[in-house]
Amino acid sequence: MEGKRILVTGGSGLVGKAIEKVVADGEGRPDEQWIFISSKDADLTNAADTKCLFEKHKPTHVIHLAAMVGGLFRNMKYNLDFLRNNLHINDNVLHSAYEMGVQKVVSCLSTCIFPDKTTYPIDETMIHNGPPHTSNFGYSYAKRMIDVQNRAYYEQHGCKFTSVIPTNVFGPHDNFNIDDGHVLPGLIHKVYSAKQNGTALSIWGTGQPRRQFIYSLDLARLFIWVLREYNEVDPIILSVGEEDEVSIKEAAESIVAAMEFKGELIFDSTKSDGQFKKTASNHKLRKYLPDFQFTPFNKGSSGASESSRDVYWLFTGSYHYDITVGTVISALKCHVMMQQAAL
Ligand SMILES: NC(=O)c1ccc[n+]([C@@H]2O[C@H](COP(=O)([O-])OP(=O)(O)OC[C@H]3O[C@@H](n4cnc5c(N)ncnc54)[C@H](OP(=O)(O)O)[C@@H]3O)[C@@H](O)[C@H]2O)c1
Repeated sequence: MEGKRILVTGGSGLVGKAIEKVVADGEGRPDEQWIFISSKDADLTNAADTKCLFEKHKPTHVIHLAAMVGGLFRNMKYNLDFLRNNLHINDNVLHSAYEMGVQKVVSCLSTCIFPDKTTYPIDETMIHNGPPHTSNFGYSYAKRMIDVQNRAYYEQHGCKFTSVIPTNVFGPHDNFNIDDGHVLPGLIHKVYSAKQNGTALSIWGTGQPRRQFIYSLDLARLFIWVLREYNEVDPIILSVGEEDEVSIKEAAESIVAAMEFKGELIFDSTKSDGQFKKTASNHKLRKYLPDFQFTPFNKGSSGASESSRDVYWLFTGSYHYDITVGTVISALKCHVMMQQAAL
C-alpha cells in the first residue's frame, strides 16, 4: 500500500512546531512523509496559491493549523481581519483538499469560539448555540464555519474532514509579544522586563478569568491520534480536565514564583478581561483515551514546594522543558533586543 503524505499547514507556528518535534522524536511512522509548510510556501488566503501548493505536494492527509491567531487585545483590534483572513484560508484549504481527493483533513478550532452565554462545562455539541464573546467574534465565526463546512463536505461528497478544539496552548515557539500574544508568554515577557527594569508587574485585567492550558507537545500527540484513529466528522475537545482550570491570577503567581520575581503585582482593571471562563469538558476525549497523561501546568501549585521549584514546566526541564528553557529565554532576549533596536 502506498504511504501517507501528510501536509501540515501552519507548520512554523506553536502547534505546528510541536507536531514536527513529536514526529521527529519517534511518533512518525516509516510509511508517512510529513510536510510542514508556512506562509513562505504559500499564502493560503490566496486560492490560486493554495491550489498550487496542493498540486505540488499531493497530500493524502492534511493537518490544517494555519490561521491568523492572536491574544485578546489583537483580536479586539482586528476583528474584521481575523474574520476575512481565516474564512479565506479555511475555504481555500478545504476546497483544495476536496479537489485533490485528500483522504482526511483535521482542522483546528478553539474553545474561544464557544457561545459567550452558556452553561458549563462546554462540550462539542454547543459550538453554534449562541453568539461568541464580542472581543473575538471575527475569529470565532470564521472558525465555526470550519465545522459547518466539514459537515457539508461530508454530506455532499463523503469527505472525511473533521476538527479538534484545543484550549489555550503553551509551549516552545510561542508568541512572546506583549500586545499580540497569548496570556502565558505575555506574562513571562512582562515578568522578564519587570525584573530587568526593577519595576512592578502590571497584569492586564482583574486576574479573575479562568483558563485551561494544554502543553503544545501533548496537543501534538493528540493531533496525531486524531489523524490516525478518530473517525467522526463532529469535532472533539482536546483539553485537560475541568479541575485543572486556573485563574489568570494563579497563572501569573506561578510564573512570578518560577522566575523568582520579588516585585509588586498590579492588576490593571482598566484593561479588558475577555470572556470570564470557557470551561471545557474533555469527557469525549476521555471516552476514547482514558489513560492519556497531560503535562501538569504547575507541579508546585499545592504550595508544598519551594517557590523556585514551582512551575517546573517553565524552567527546570522536569517534564519536557529541557529544550523549552533555551527556546523561551532566547526568544525573549531576541524580542527585547528587536524592540530596543526599533526605539
Ligand atoms: N495558540 C493557542 O493557544 C491556540 C488555542 C486554540 C486553538 N489554536 C489554533 O491552533 C492553530 C495553530 O495555532 P498556533 O498557536 O500554532 O499559531 P501561530 O503560532 O500563530 O502560527 C500560525 C501559523 O499559521 C501560518 N499562517 C498564518 N497566516 C497564513 C497564511 N496567510 N498563509 C499560510 N500560512 C499562514 C503561520 O505561518 P508563518 O509562520 O509563515 O507566519 C504559522 O505557521 C490555529 O488554527 C489556532 O487557531 C491555537
